[in-house]
Amino acid sequence: MSLSDADKKALDASWKKLTAGADGKKNAGINLVLWMFANVPNMRAQFSKFNANQSDDALRGDAEFVKQVNVIVASLDGLLQSVNNPGQLQANLDKLAKSHVNLKIGLEFFGPLQQNIHSFIESALGVGAGSDEPKAWANLIAAFNDTLKKA
Ligand code: HEM
Repeated sequence: MSLSDADKKALDASWKKLTAGADGKKNAGINLVLWMFANVPNMRAQFSKFNANQSDDALRGDAEFVKQVNVIVASLDGLLQSVNNPGQLQANLDKLAKSHVNLKIGLEFFGPLQQNIHSFIESALGVGAGSDEPKAWANLIAAFNDTLKKA
């Protein structure tokens, strides 16, 4: 699965929109990770440095959770900044896939993420299901999952 020009444009524009403003990256990251916990079955149980079964409000105030969010945001930021540089994008995808393979986190988690990510993007950006942004994010996760299968 490779990204089309429309995907690349939509990813670039939507990441800028999602992360705009003071604390934009941190807030977008917290919202995304809380959404993943609710929409990727059994994800919560994989984290040992904080209790992922706490309420959303408790997680927002948990320093170890916020640390994990920052790690995820930094990684996503690198991915999104490389969408127009296919070699760099693939290198970033390879690195992220290897990290998760080493943690034994595979398609049982990233498959549902690929299937569901469109709904996070639709509500975060206020766009319809047929628009470019949700499709582009699903395609980005699909590209990651292709990489994960080979890692
Ligand atoms: C947007 C998607 C995601 C991004 C960008 C991301 C990124 C990362 C990064 C950069 C790390 C650190 C890896 C290292 O230290 O080498 C990590 C750790 C981890 N990720 Fe992900 N991740 C994502 C989704 C997921 C999903 C869906 C799961 C499902 C269970 C998951 C589970 C984990 C776990 C368990 C760790 C180890 C945390 C720890 O230090 O205890 N990640 N992730």
